[in-house]
Amino acid sequence: YERNSGMPFKQRLLVVANRLPVSAVRRGEDSWSLEISAGGLVSALLGVKEFEAKWIGWAGVNVPDEIGQRALSKALAEKRCIPVFLDEEIVHQYYNGYCNNILWPLFHYLGLPQEDRLATTRSFQSQFDAYKKANQMFADVVNEHYEEGDVVWCHDYHLMFLPKCLKEYNAKMKVGWFLHTPFPSSEIHRTLPSRSELLRSVLAADLVGFHTYDYARHFVSACTRILGLEGTPEGVEDQGKLTRVAAFPIGIDSERFIRALELPKVQDHIKELKERFSGRKVMLGVDRLDMIKGIPQKILAFEKFLEENTSWHDKVVLLQIAVPTRTDVPEYQKLTSQVHEIVGRINGRFGTLTAVPIHHLDRSLDFHALCALYAVTDVALVTSLRDGMNLVSYEFVACQDSKKGVLILSEFAGAAQSLGAGAILVNPWNITEVASSIGYALNMPAEEREKRHHHNFMHVTTHTAQDWAETFVSELNDTIVEAQLRMRQ
Ligand code: G6P
Repeated sequence: YERNSGMPFKQRLLVVANRLPVSAVRRGEDSWSLEISAGGLVSALLGVKEFEAKWIGWAGVNVPDEIGQRALSKALAEKRCIPVFLDEEIVHQYYNGYCNNILWPLFHYLGLPQEDRLATTRSFQSQFDAYKKANQMFADVVNEHYEEGDVVWCHDYHLMFLPKCLKEYNAKMKVGWFLHTPFPSSEIHRTLPSRSELLRSVLAADLVGFHTYDYARHFVSACTRILGLEGTPEGVEDQGKLTRVAAFPIGIDSERFIRALELPKVQDHIKELKERFSGRKVMLGVDRLDMIKGIPQKILAFEKFLEENTSWHDKVVLLQIAVPTRTDVPEYQKLTSQVHEIVGRINGRFGTLTAVPIHHLDRSLDFHALCALYAVTDVALVTSLRDGMNLVSYEFVACQDSKKGVLILSEFAGAAQSLGAGAILVNPWNITEVASSIGYALNMPAEEREKRHHHNFMHVTTHTAQDWAETFVSELNDTIVEAQLRMRQ
């Protein structure tokens, strides 16, 4: 059947994430300019052809006035986006506070904040209240736009309270929740004061997804040990209600990267970079400037490599792109100065009048410049202390089909489970091991590089973001059908 527009009817998918895939800049009282970010989720959802996707999320800007809000909503509607307006105080307590100062470090095994315990305990409660309030605001917007038959897909650690709020509005709503970070061991999750409330809320969803089997297993253990519920091979059961829990490893739109490499502007860029670094091997790191990425440890390992391998001094360069992120959170500010200090020291120590060993950039690169950089790289260093998946490793592999460079990859990134056979796996905390892996990678014979690359390239090009989204969404749809069937029996 058809909706009144005459277009064939498509089931709707409401994608709810903290951040909309746009950056919005206010140009006047009632005018906005929008730029769509072509990130992983956006291209993934373009692949879900049977559904018409709409996004619900925060536009990343404070819009206190109604005229501005109305104009922004209108502009966003053209991009199939629906904004949730959060005021500055909520953003401070919910996003900077509970999400990025509490849940993010905890889920990456960095523990709860420890300075001034009393203050933390007091602010913990107000931050959790703000988190719940913000989640309720997201739920209100979803509910306002929900039509019967829609499938609702909630994303990430910002919205763990959302499944419960949505089911309270409408028990028949099909709700899925996917976590883009690791889910830590239940022993870590146990330390969180709001541990049970969050687990129970997530369990209100019909399908709960993680990047790896380990994260799914940790979540099930947390539910059995903390809530005393029963874990089954399918998921978690509570009084006859099953919440299905499974692993859905994300991928990238590999074709987009492969095609970009053929563009004349990318080829020109590749040529320039090759000339610029001729006679030197290029090592590359691309990370958000985040504690979990292990940037100081990576740079210290590179220093150790230089210390122990004087013959490489003017023959290798490390390009570290560190994209600033969450700059209002004090931990991130501290990290920036720490990294600058280390890079300065090493460049002072090993640099010459004409060259430095580390080029460190505190900014992002545009997509085409990034593809060119991936393509000229000899060794990529992805040394996260913990990482949900890490798609930089996938992007590097996708751009390396002619060069067949080496990937050094942290065993604590989700990607280690899929690219482990092709990459050199390292423990990022072990600086000696990372330093010797750098040497191994730089000296690796072509035949071994080719074999390792082939393994990874096959994986990256056959496990795409589109497959990921399609599998999750269709499974979410089927899970409900199953549940309804069970009710009828
Ligand atoms: C991680 C999270 C995402 C988040 C992204 C950027 O990948 O899993 O949910 O959007 O970081 O962080 P930001 O705080 O800038 O949204």
